[in-house]
Amino acid sequence: MEKKEQLYEGKAKKVFRTENPEELIVSYKDDATAFNGLKKGTIVGKGVINNKMSNLLMQKLEKAGIPTHFVKELSDRETVVKRVSIVPLEVIVRNIAAGSFSKRYGVEEGVVFASPTIEFSYKNDDLGDPLINDYHAIALKLATEEEIETIKKYSFAVNEQLKAFWKECGVTLVDFKLEFGRLSDGTIVLADEISPDTCRFWDAKTGEKLDKDRFRRDLGGVEEAYDEIMKRLSEHI
Ligand code: TMP
Repeated sequence: MEKKEQLYEGKAKKVFRTENPEELIVSYKDDATAFNGLKKGTIVGKGVINNKMSNLLMQKLEKAGIPTHFVKELSDRETVVKRVSIVPLEVIVRNIAAGSFSKRYGVEEGVVFASPTIEFSYKNDDLGDPLINDYHAIALKLATEEEIETIKKYSFAVNEQLKAFWKECGVTLVDFKLEFGRLSDGTIVLADEISPDTCRFWDAKTGEKLDKDRFRRDLGGVEEAYDEIMKRLSEHI
């Protein structure tokens, strides 16, 4: 599989065309941003970890019946994925209050929910990815009602799979962000990545943060946290 011209460069990944019109190559960078690109930095080795973690978890989800864009890992930083058109919604599933949820509703971080929650943000950098509800997403033609139902069903299924897996690794899955895409025939599949950039991982014993919040909040030990969470995964996958 050969990389052809670059189609797109995002904050954390580049996307290339291949000889197959239905497949793309993604290349993971070490670049890190937060607060809609306001804060910029580098997390050395992040691209390799996010590539490998995302691929291992997506393969696990496929086995559990959740369709994903994953095709084949090419190298440390590069993966072949199915070409999709991204549904412009960031889907956030939460098990425990943290981050913007805690801030918005004045709830202390760490409050455990009786059942998981889901919310959507409209993927639009100019608008700062605003929170959006199902009716607004349908009105804006971002997705159909049926697609939103499918996305919700898959997102909660992802949560159950990942929560159980990370528990085995001694890690609490606090929350995470997913993105979905449409294949050329309209089938909805899980796309983008599942990594410490897009999930909150807390050590189950100590509560230590093992994710990008260390970068967002200037907590230090960022690379060490990415190495540690990857080590936990490697030992249990
Ligand atoms: P939040 O609490 O800041 O809304 O974040 C919820 C989850 O989504 C958290 O695991 C981090 C992830 N996330 C992203 O992947 N991309 C983003 O741009 C933001 C704001 C959060």
